[in-house]
Amino acid sequence: MRRWGIILMLLAACVMPSTQAMGAAPQVIVCIQCHAAQPARLSDPVTLWQTSIHAEHGITCNACHGGDPMDAANSMDPARGYRGVPAPTSVPALCGGCHMGVTKHYMNSAHGRALGRGGPTCVTCHGSHDITRASLELISKKNCTTCHTFDKALMIRRAMVKTDGMLKAIEKRITILKSQGIDTDPLEKKLFSLRNRFHAMYHSLDVTLIREESAHIQAELEKTSGAGGAGTGYLVGVIAVGWALLAALLFSMIKKNID
Ligand code: HEC
Ligand code: HEC
Ligand code: HEC
Ligand code: HEC
Ligand code: HEC
Repeated sequence: MRRWGIILMLLAACVMPSTQAMGAAPQVIVCIQCHAAQPARLSDPVTLWQTSIHAEHGITCNACHGGDPMDAANSMDPARGYRGVPAPTSVPALCGGCHMGVTKHYMNSAHGRALGRGGPTCVTCHGSHDITRASLELISKKNCTTCHTFDKALMIRRAMVKTDGMLKAIEKRITILKSQGIDTDPLEKKLFSLRNRFHAMYHSLDVTLIREESAHIQAELEKTSGAGGAGTGYLVGVIAVGWALLAALLFSMIKKNID
């Protein structure tokens, strides 16, 4: 009976995502503490932010609004760098402080050129506080037809959908390998830069550029995953090694328990 317990534990370990190492004890951010106790207009940002990708990565209120997150009495003092609520026209520069590649594409696009004249800013599409991981789902009739028709938006979505699917499939396989304790670092590094290049490009709104770059990225991905060749790619090799290791481990555990 015990061996089934062990097998189940091993299988569970295979499907469980690797847990991130916890950093140092979190410091109290006074902005969050005080704002959470304020009326809706001032506390809603806290509630929305709490489940955002920025909260997950420790990007707190002061990253966008300035101020001193450690000193409650002076936190909103301009002398401590407090900037208040950003004007819509200054939003791209604010976000661009960290998202440089995306913002460069955006500034050169029809949307960037229409900034301050009816064009969308970053927060029109992503929200300000409830920002989550971006995906092609954002290109929807709901988000893209308030200012113009949907046909151009649809062309961009169609040009991106195949590469998007390839990236997702490889990411999924890497997660599985990683949970098996296999070193996926070189692969992840490569995927990370390809993924960023691909997702940032959307903001150019340039279908020709997107088609060209997508073809290039697809070729790179096929090399990486071995999908194009007869199973000679790096990923295929790593997967084979991963399953062989797992099988060997399972076998030795079962054998020990039987013996
Ligand atoms: C002790 C309570 C308290 C702390 C600490 C605090 N705030 Fe505020 N905050 C308020 C109140 C009350 C208001 C509304 C009145 C006002 O604008 O001064 C406000 C307003 C704001 C606004 C909206 C301003 C506007 O013009 O509408 C922003 C943005 C803001 N705070 C950000 C921050 C940030 C960032 C921090 C931390 C660096 C912070 N707050 C710390 C109480 C606080
Ligand atoms: C990624 C950048 C970013 C972060 C992080 C962020 N904000 Fe904001 N915040 C904005 C932007 C942009 C606006 C203006 C647009 C809007 O009102 O949505 C804004 C608006 C506000 C307002 C004014 C809301 C209103 O309706 O007048 C308050 C208050 C505020 N933020 C508080 C906070 C607090 C508190 C935190 C931390 C929990 C925080 N923000 C984190 C970008 C950010
Ligand atoms: C202080 C740096 C900083 C600022 C300012 C900032 N971000 Fe971020 N943002 C991050 C980090 C770190 C992440 C998480 C890592 C990643 O995915 O890039 C992130 C993630 C994101 C994501 C999800 C990316 C993905 O992979 O899908 C979006 C969308 C985003 N931010 C939009 C914005 C917008 C819009 C603004 C301005 C209102 C903004 N950010 C301001 C640092 C910042
Ligand atoms: C707040 C208004 C607004 C929203 C929301 C908006 N757009 Fe636009 N968009 C514009 C303006 C303004 C232009 C430039 C004038 C035009 O072409 O109509 C534009 C132009 C475009 C173009 C033409 C680019 C070119 O070079 O010809 C595309 C493609 C586009 N938008 C895609 C999208 C997509 C996809 C979404 C949703 C994710 C979206 N837009 C949401 C305002 C908006
Ligand atoms: C018209 C809507 C729209 C506007 C305006 C917009 N974005 Fe995006 N953004 C998207 C969509 C759609 C995606 C997903 C594209 C994809 O899946 O390839 C995205 C993806 C992203 C990502 C993820 C990129 C990655 O590497 O995974 C970030 C970060 C981001 N946007 C930040 C910004 C910032 C900063 C601005 C302003 C300078 C901005 N966005 C303006 C719609 C928009």
